Amino acid sequence: MYLASAAVLVMELLKLIACVIGLAVQEGSVAAAVRTLRAEIPSRETLQMIVPSGIYAVQNNLLYTALSNLDAATYQVTYQVKILTTALFSVLMLGKHLTKMRWISLVMLLIGVAMVQTQGEAGDKALARTVTAAVAAVAEKAAVAATAPTQSRFVGISAVLTAAVLSGFAGCYFERVLKSYKTSMLVRNVQLGLFGTLFSLLAMLSTDGRAVWEGGLMQGWNGNTWLVVLNQAFGGLLVSVVVKYADSILKGFASSISIVLSSIIAAICLNFVPSAEFIVGATVVIAAGYLYSL
Ligand code: C5P
Repeated sequence: MYLASAAVLVMELLKLIACVIGLAVQEGSVAAAVRTLRAEIPSRETLQMIVPSGIYAVQNNLLYTALSNLDAATYQVTYQVKILTTALFSVLMLGKHLTKMRWISLVMLLIGVAMVQTQGEAGDKALARTVTAAVAAVAEKAAVAATAPTQSRFVGISAVLTAAVLSGFAGCYFERVLKSYKTSMLVRNVQLGLFGTLFSLLAMLSTDGRAVWEGGLMQGWNGNTWLVVLNQAFGGLLVSVVVKYADSILKGFASSISIVLSSIIAAICLNFVPSAEFIVGATVVIAAGYLYSL
């Protein structure tokens, strides 16, 4: 089994490298990017990023803990609670007003995604191999192989619910910072990534320090592990684009629709036969999006 804490650290490093490269492209040269970073990094604004990056580090580690203790479907369904926690924090922290219709559509979204995902457990197992479920499936497989006898449902559910609350808070905090200042999104991500890397390094050393010392950072890695880590890193960067140009609540809609889409791709490519529950769930997700946009 690969070390989850090492996977989180490599993901943070990849995001950091991608942002520095992006900044160099944006500014026209590496020297210009370095100048911008030297001006922007030693600032109070950078310190503000301790909060979301610390939370994301805890959240990402909690999610791996959850995956090691739960099956992929339970994990994914329970994590959808973040749709409601995000809405709640949007009201509390960003002063957004949500009409009754919008709250109803968010609850519908939660129910719809849950229906789409539970059918993967009850119905065709191929769903667990869809693109969206790749993270869950790979980690679950690894966890089942390595830690099945010590799995604890209570630990798993507690971890995923805590992660859902943190997801809502960190998403809204990051949205507030991104929208309140003119600082470029890439610089913001570098600021976030510096702390993210530091926190992930500390988390790795405290939980798996001895294992890393003995077996190396990338012990147990294979092509699937790289796929998961790259997917998470790219997904993380995409999150900041969505939060900047749309908002944290719409991010929830985007990821719910991606779950439905990847299940449809699975139906075409992996001979997964959608059940009635899936079709109803997918319809509810789409209807929720429509209602929210009214
Ligand atoms: O599940 P949720 O939508 O809260 O996940 C957000 C993910 O996006 C986290 O894994 C976090 O590390 C990542 N993220 C990121 N860069 C940002 C904002 C979020 O990598 N600027």
